[in-house]
Amino acid sequence: MTESLRVLFLASEAAPYAKTGGLADVAGSLPNALKKLGVDVRVGLPFYRMAKEGNFQTRKAVSGLEVPIGNARLRGDVLETSTEEGVPVYLFDREDLFDRPNLYGTPEGDYYDNLERFTFFSHAALLFPKKVGFHFDVVHCHDWQTGLIPAYVKTLYRADSYFSSVASVFTIHNIGYQGLFPPDRLHTCGVPVTEFNPDGIEFWDKFSLLKAGLVYADAITTVSPRYSREIQTPEFGMGMDGILRKRSTDLYGILNGADYTSWNPATDRHITDHYSPSNMRGKRKCKAGLIKELGLHQRFVDRPVLGMVSRLAAQKGSDLLVQIVEDIVGLDAGLVILGAGEDKYQALFLELASKYPESVSVTIGFDEGLAHRIMAGIDIFLVPSRYEPCGLTQIYALKYGTIPIVRATGGLDDTIQQFDQNSGEGTGFKFVQYETGAFLDQIKEALKVFEDRPGWIRLVERGMRADFSWEKSAGEYVSLYEEVRKRAITNGESNGKKV
Ligand code: ADP
Ligand code: GLC
Repeated sequence: MTESLRVLFLASEAAPYAKTGGLADVAGSLPNALKKLGVDVRVGLPFYRMAKEGNFQTRKAVSGLEVPIGNARLRGDVLETSTEEGVPVYLFDREDLFDRPNLYGTPEGDYYDNLERFTFFSHAALLFPKKVGFHFDVVHCHDWQTGLIPAYVKTLYRADSYFSSVASVFTIHNIGYQGLFPPDRLHTCGVPVTEFNPDGIEFWDKFSLLKAGLVYADAITTVSPRYSREIQTPEFGMGMDGILRKRSTDLYGILNGADYTSWNPATDRHITDHYSPSNMRGKRKCKAGLIKELGLHQRFVDRPVLGMVSRLAAQKGSDLLVQIVEDIVGLDAGLVILGAGEDKYQALFLELASKYPESVSVTIGFDEGLAHRIMAGIDIFLVPSRYEPCGLTQIYALKYGTIPIVRATGGLDDTIQQFDQNSGEGTGFKFVQYETGAFLDQIKEALKVFEDRPGWIRLVERGMRADFSWEKSAGEYVSLYEEVRKRAITNGESNGKKV
């Protein structure tokens, strides 16, 4: 059955071609897992400068593809490459839109023409398969940058027999990014003006590409079961909870998996001393190497070192951590931070690092290699998020024998079980209230266990043996693809009827 399932998988970033966060990890690894299950899956993303600089071997698949934007037609090329596992990857090339230093904007804000950029990508990604004759059953879209695609299938192309039995799945990786634009720009993306209403693409007098995905897709998924419940409430829904409640029977929470080909301390190409539960000597060496690399005091080789690798944004709890850095220093623990994001957090963390250079190291920027060396070289990983759709770093941390302390929200709550000293059960530490006291209490709890070496080693081993590989979740996506394909064919739903 799955042999004949053909899926077009479209995202605005995918590792290793272009990455700013976890979406890239998912779009870079889930397709490989789907292929293993027999799906004919093909990935598409824009050909950013970051992807060009990766020097991947490519061949031109199409030259001069014509893409409508407003009243104009822009031409672009499509390059083809493939993942190591043999999944075809299409890179949508248009130099003036994508050959830029960043993916979405600068620290000052979003690129002014993001609507044009992602309209071009979304529309090109639909027209390209038709041009080359690749028939697909399901288009799987991710986040606001691809939200127009389900809308195109259900409106612009409802009468086009090429798309009439295509079903769409839309995955929410983060409901906080909604792709909002003023209504006078609706013509740019080409969604008919009749769709500019509260049951369509309108969102509080603007239009939202995220909402387009939520309204027109045949099924909606998000990246953890708990987040799928949370976003149906006003507290977490960020204004989209109404439409999500309306569509609740089509909304699924499918937990992200981890890509253990990239994130495994036994094979990681970014670390020099490999290790596994049966031989942990490498972890100590990784720790000593990291302490030297970042210039922390030598005594931290035997003291607990805490760390965070994250976008520096309010979502990630950067404000909570800033407030307790001095308490952590007071506990004689080391602290390592790697992150990029909002200016104010960057400045605050850098100030603390210069005040406590022996104990606190802060690196501002995006550095894949350092992210892996931190994962391997520290003892405790901090994820104090305000909200978290899934979160991947706490899952990677477990594999690296680095104990996570997380806020009990979204996917963090689904993936980490509170450690219980009496029973020895659990994989990490969790706090519920978003406040510094609760966070610090769990840090102190973790440090107590750290001092009890045999207890700590048992906790580390249990985390390392936990299995978050993609297999199970990829199977859930396959079942969902089959379900929406069946519905699209039998009900003719994707032939234009809005849900
Ligand atoms: P989100 O997608 O919300 O940023 P996730 O936990 O799902 O959060 O994924 C974050 C991914 O981005 C992880 O692979 C993490 O290692 C990586 N990452 C985040 N910030 C940086 C950084 N400054 N340098 C390198 N990698 C980073
Ligand atoms: C988003 C979320 C994060 C999730 C990632 C991949 O960026 O913030 O929680 O893990 O997408 O799905």
